[in-house]
Amino acid sequence: MTQALKFAARVFHRVRCAPELSASRDYRNYDSASRGLADIPGPSTPSFLAELFCKGGLSRLHELQVQGVARFGPVWLANFGTVRTVYVAAPALVEQLLRQEGPQPERCSLSPWVEHRRHRQRACGLLTAEGEEWQRLRSLLAPLLLRPQAAAGYAGTLDSVVCDLVRRLRRQRGRGTGPPDLVRDVAGEFYKFGLEGIAAVLLGSRLGCLEAEVPPDTEAFIRAVGSVFVSTLLTMAMPGWLQRLVPGPWGRLCRDWDQMFAFAQQHVERRAAEVATRNRGKSEEDMGPGAHLTYLLFREELPAQSILGNVAELLLAGVDTVSNTLSWALYELSRHPEVQTALHSEITTALGPGSSGHPPATTLSQLPLLKAVVKEVLRLYPVVPGNSRVPDKDIHVGDYIIPKNTLVTLCHYATSRDTAQFPEPNSFRPARWLGEDPAPHPFASLPFGFGKRSCIGRRLAELELQMALAQILTHFEVQPEPGAAPIRPMTRTVLVPERSINLQFVDR
Ligand code: HEM
Repeated sequence: MTQALKFAARVFHRVRCAPELSASRDYRNYDSASRGLADIPGPSTPSFLAELFCKGGLSRLHELQVQGVARFGPVWLANFGTVRTVYVAAPALVEQLLRQEGPQPERCSLSPWVEHRRHRQRACGLLTAEGEEWQRLRSLLAPLLLRPQAAAGYAGTLDSVVCDLVRRLRRQRGRGTGPPDLVRDVAGEFYKFGLEGIAAVLLGSRLGCLEAEVPPDTEAFIRAVGSVFVSTLLTMAMPGWLQRLVPGPWGRLCRDWDQMFAFAQQHVERRAAEVATRNRGKSEEDMGPGAHLTYLLFREELPAQSILGNVAELLLAGVDTVSNTLSWALYELSRHPEVQTALHSEITTALGPGSSGHPPATTLSQLPLLKAVVKEVLRLYPVVPGNSRVPDKDIHVGDYIIPKNTLVTLCHYATSRDTAQFPEPNSFRPARWLGEDPAPHPFASLPFGFGKRSCIGRRLAELELQMALAQILTHFEVQPEPGAAPIRPMTRTVLVPERSINLQFVDR
């Protein structure tokens, strides 16, 4: 009888923990039947390497997530380069993992960057720091970037950057062949916007990326960001022996980071001199929230090397993220004119009749469709398609116990395109966030990550996106390039369009 009960309990357990995990499952009630790494299914190393290097899988890493769930279920294991990683691709399991985080979560997804800092004796910034060092930086920077009031304090600065963007889009129309209102490679324009925006907030001054003549060092910085993302992925994916045979990617990665550090150093030093002159005799309170961040960078408490590491990493973090999201947003709005019309009407109503002014940041953050559009774009095109964690203790994930220090990859791209969570997952439907569909699992779309290590630039990014979309749609009707084929995303560490997005900006 006891044996029969045990058997029934085991069967019940297996059924309960079957791969199609229900969002409502209580994952805390784990029992001794949990299994270890050796039990996790996954591709063989040669087949995974063949997928990555012979079938162009590196740029399709996001798609490999979707294939992985289909083949192995929501948890699988593969060797990525020299690192063994457990992939987790069900919202409930992502939640389970993240809720077991310690006080100093380790991401470790960018280890070649840490290697660069070590190699060149540079300090890590918030993106790459770990442990105590990370905690100290986080508690210093979070109040200045993440608090809603702090981010809203940058609205004035960002407003002038957005005005310059609108002027630049107008200037860039009709260059080259095609219709007179066509702007080619909008992402290229938005990279400049991203860098100008984060630099304005961080350094309290303008770089001039959106002027008719773009300063060559800013173009070089943007190129270095793009290039470092490519070499990062290659360096991570290559096993040690292959890296020794083909040292190019690692060399490029170091060269790009050196260039970004040099750029940051030059601008930090220039700002230091300016701020010292400007703020002579002023108290901290007199300087306002925008200046406060600049001021902080020069405060003696943080070593100069650390200031530099943070500026370089925050500048990088501000470039590709906001810009790609803005490119995808306008791409989708151009292909869904009915959504664009509704959004335009929401924005102009908020502005008031006949007003040519700019809606305040607080107003924009309350506009439901604008918020839904940004959420939907980030669901379809999460800038960080796969994030990671290295647990500092053994943790439970579904049926398995993951030993501490194992790299775990969170498959955000796969969960945010999961049919069980999002009906018609590949369609752009902002209304799904406005109560049209049942609410998805809260961890199904997690574009800014979660918890103590979540994106510190989130508020700033949302503000930039809302302000840019509101201004662009106030001035232009955005239309697709006539006859252009659909554009798919590709992985370049972050998710980017696989080719240039060209759009028409027609005056309203
Ligand atoms: C659409 C825009 C953006 C998206 C989708 C995004 C997404 C993310 C994600 C997924 C993470 C990892 C979170 C985690 O591990 O839980 C992250 C971290 C981070 N982001 Fe962003 N980001 C964006 C914009 C920005 C901007 C504008 C900045 C610059 C201020 C920034 C700075 C950072 C930094 C410094 C971290 C590391 C935080 C830490 O480790 O404590 N991000 N971001």
